[in-house]
Formats: sequence, structure tokens, C-alpha cells
Amino acid sequence: MFTNRLPIAKLAGAVVALAAVISAVMLSINWDGAEDSTAAPKIDNLLNIMIVLSSIVFAIVVVALAYALIAFRAKPGDESDGEPIHGNTRLEIAWTLIPTIIVLFSGGWSWKVLNEIEETDPNHMTVSVFSQQYAWSFGYPGKEYAYSQGVLHVPVNRQIVFKMHSQDVIHSFWVPQWRIKKDNVPGITTTAVVTPTKTGTYQLICTELCGFGHASMRAKVIVQSQSAFDKWVEGLKEKVPPDLMVSVKQDTETNPEPLERAVAE
Ligand code: CUA
Repeated sequence: MFTNRLPIAKLAGAVVALAAVISAVMLSINWDGAEDSTAAPKIDNLLNIMIVLSSIVFAIVVVALAYALIAFRAKPGDESDGEPIHGNTRLEIAWTLIPTIIVLFSGGWSWKVLNEIEETDPNHMTVSVFSQQYAWSFGYPGKEYAYSQGVLHVPVNRQIVFKMHSQDVIHSFWVPQWRIKKDNVPGITTTAVVTPTKTGTYQLICTELCGFGHASMRAKVIVQSQSAFDKWVEGLKEKVPPDLMVSVKQDTETNPEPLERAVAE
């Protein structure tokens, strides 16, 4: 059988070399831009791990394919049938077990990262996020539900728990430099946890196709010192409008209240 004649060491060497080259090229690219929240480096590390794992799998496939193309090529004029091949139990166990281990490892590592990111700090600040076709607005519960439209201010180096509400269709909250992305779903409250680590101006982008105005559904995000934030929020004249407050009341995380009950209140 030809399996006994496979140059395993050479093939393994080729896989390692190819995986190393692909990983080196892919890891040298800054895929996600600046890392401006505590979650960002964790998510980027996770991406790097996935890049290396994918490079290894890709290299195995490409090396096996190239070897098969060259080594098992039919000789000119050879019109005979190929060798009949039956199953290979060892090979089948290997190609079931190894991907299972890779998937479980990736799942476990992702779980660990998500747990770390979502661990809430007792000193966190809550901000309500309201989304509708095609605008964002924000409420600050700790400041008597002061309200801002199209611009979000948050203090730096403090954990923010965003409680998100949609008034119509599914939107998605995304500040690329924070990495965090979370859907806003009508009828329920969704939560995202972010600790910004740099002051500056960012863009909040809607990243769920939500209608004709989707591409322009953005808001300005300003990360500033706690004192500058306090000053800004105290200067806000508006409060969250009553119809949006209804959505805060009505949407609960685990058990959405029936609409009639919320309206009756
Ligand atoms: Cu809202 Cu896309």
C-alpha cells in the first residue's frame, strides 16, 4: 500500500514551514486598528490564536493536496482504474478527534475571554442606548435620565454597562476601537460592557442592516475624563422622553412583559 511509503517527515516539515509563513504574514497585519478598551487586546489575542490555528489547518490541506497532485498523478497513457481504497480507521479517528479538540479549545478560550470582558465592576456606570431607524440616542440613569441625541459621552477608565433598546428593528452597536459589538433587539434589553482606556472622539456605527438609512446610522462618541463628563452631562437640558422610558420599563432582560401590560401602566 502506498500509505507506507508516505514521506511523513517531509510532509510534516512542509506543513510547519507553510503554517509559519502564513501565520507570520497574517499576524503582521493590524486587522482591527487601535485598541482603546480593556476588551480590545483580549479580543485581538483571540483573533491571533484563531489565525494560527487556521493557518495550520490550511497548510495541512494545501500540502496534502499538492502532494497528492504530484505523487499520484497518472502516467501518460495509463487508462487503468484507480486502486480500490477502503476505509482507514486510524485516519478517520484522527480526522474526527483533532478537529474536535481544536473546536473545543477555541470554544473554551472564547468563553474565558467573554467571561473576563463581561465581568462587572461594582464601580460601573450604566448608560441607556436607544436605537431607531436611523438614529442613536442615549440616557444617563445615574443623572436622572439626562438625554443626548446623536452624541454619546463616557468617562475614560471606568466600566460602562450599556443597556440597549430598539424601537423598531434590530440595530447593532459597534465602536470598532472598543471591539464590542451588540445587537439592539426590539422587545428586550441587551447589555454590553465596555471600559474605554483612551480619551478621544470615536464613531458609533450601526452594524446590522436595518433599512435604507443603515449606512448613515452613526453617532459621535466622546471619551473624556470623569470630571469633564460630569460637567457635560449636568449641562444636558433634556430628559429621556416618556415613550423611550416605556421601552426601558417594558424590556426586561429575561422575561419581556407583554405589551398590553406595559401600555396599561
Ligand atoms: Cu440601524 Cu443599521
